[in-house]
Amino acid sequence: MRRIELRPALYRSSGDAGSGSGGSASGGKAAAKAAVEFRELRKTYGHALALEKIDLEILQGEFFTLLGPSGSGKTTLLNIVSGMVTPTSGSVLIDGRDVTHVPPRDRNLGMVFQNYALLPHMTVFDNVAFPLRIRKASKADIERDVMAILELVQLKDFAKRKPKELSGGQQQRVSIARCLVYKPKLILMDEPLGALDKKLRHQLQFELKKIHQDLGVTVLYVTHDQDEALVLSDRICVMNHARIEQVGTPNDLYFRPTNEFVAEFLGESNIIPGTVENASGDFARVRTASGSVVPCTMRPGAPASGGFKVMVRPESVKLSDFGHAGGLGMEGVVQDCAFVGHAIRYTVKSGSQTIMGLQNSSSGTRIFEPGSRVWVEWAPSDAISLASRD
Ligand SMILES: Nc1ncnc2c1ncn2[C@@H]1O[C@H](COP(=O)(O)OP(=O)(O)OP(=O)(O)O)[C@@H](O)[C@H]1O
Ligand SMILES: [Mg+2]
Repeated sequence: MRRIELRPALYRSSGDAGSGSGGSASGGKAAAKAAVEFRELRKTYGHALALEKIDLEILQGEFFTLLGPSGSGKTTLLNIVSGMVTPTSGSVLIDGRDVTHVPPRDRNLGMVFQNYALLPHMTVFDNVAFPLRIRKASKADIERDVMAILELVQLKDFAKRKPKELSGGQQQRVSIARCLVYKPKLILMDEPLGALDKKLRHQLQFELKKIHQDLGVTVLYVTHDQDEALVLSDRICVMNHARIEQVGTPNDLYFRPTNEFVAEFLGESNIIPGTVENASGDFARVRTASGSVVPCTMRPGAPASGGFKVMVRPESVKLSDFGHAGGLGMEGVVQDCAFVGHAIRYTVKSGSQTIMGLQNSSSGTRIFEPGSRVWVEWAPSDAISLASRD
């Protein structure tokens, strides 16, 4: 009975007390509170730039992911929150308190690493109990809390095993349990599923998402796996070369990337250069190099003239027989057509432009064979103008 009660209460019990004295809330904002804030953060190692111009807020209860290629600064930013790295300039706040120079042990954070970092000679129970023993919890509290958290990560029957007697996924769940057991309000995870095979990754992604929903804790997560970021996150921060490229929901980033880097980092995209022929309201007609006129949504503030790029996802591209009357779109010839089960993947050449299309398939779906002349189009709301990169 007590086991059940611990689940929803786990984070509420210790969560409310912490922020009391912090007094002067940042900037007088009353709405959603920031769990973590970075202000004008910069980090250099000698001449090497690891982070620059980082201004960012992570809200309480969010599953927030730092996504970017290797070397883009993700771990450095995470370690500035944990206190293992001190920024060269700027500040980091947790729950409104400036912790830039507060030692790691005084930040009350949980951390989960890629390599599990379990103690090999201890049982699963003792590994999970370890943080509670350090905090001098009573024997009864330890017994109750460890078993409750092991139940949450579905390892109750493994309490007496040693780490080497567990699979990789089970070991990682032990390290997640060890992090959750002392009820940190903020959990930092650096590529926690990186060492696992694809199937196990998917399973643990699902479990992580559920744990986050059940407990309402704030998670700051690092990955360079786009799919993982899209599946798990409330919001994603895409990083590249020490800087933030874009912050937004998975949907924003996927369908409304601000630039070519974000568009290409998050899945497949068609990027079509052209010039604005006519813009009205949110939409524009864009003339491509091959003379076609295609529609797109104008990003607010985008210049309504001059050079331009249109981004459209393959699944938004529709193919039909050439000869279609009117409308905006491109004439093309199918180069390649591959059946991939749920969909048919097309490559279409239109002048010098190659367009990828992905059409849902069912048993009666019309297939355009290579060599077919086709008409290629998309809804204006499915294409977006990209900011040019400098
Ligand atoms: N201790 C250090 N000394 C010198 N340079 C460092 C140090 N730590 C990180 N860097 C550099 O800072 C940059 C950012 O590194 P960081 O580890 O944050 O990248 P990352 O995005 O986590 O990459 P990965 O996906 O490979 O883990 C890199 O160019 C890296 O070489
Ligand atoms: Mg890293």
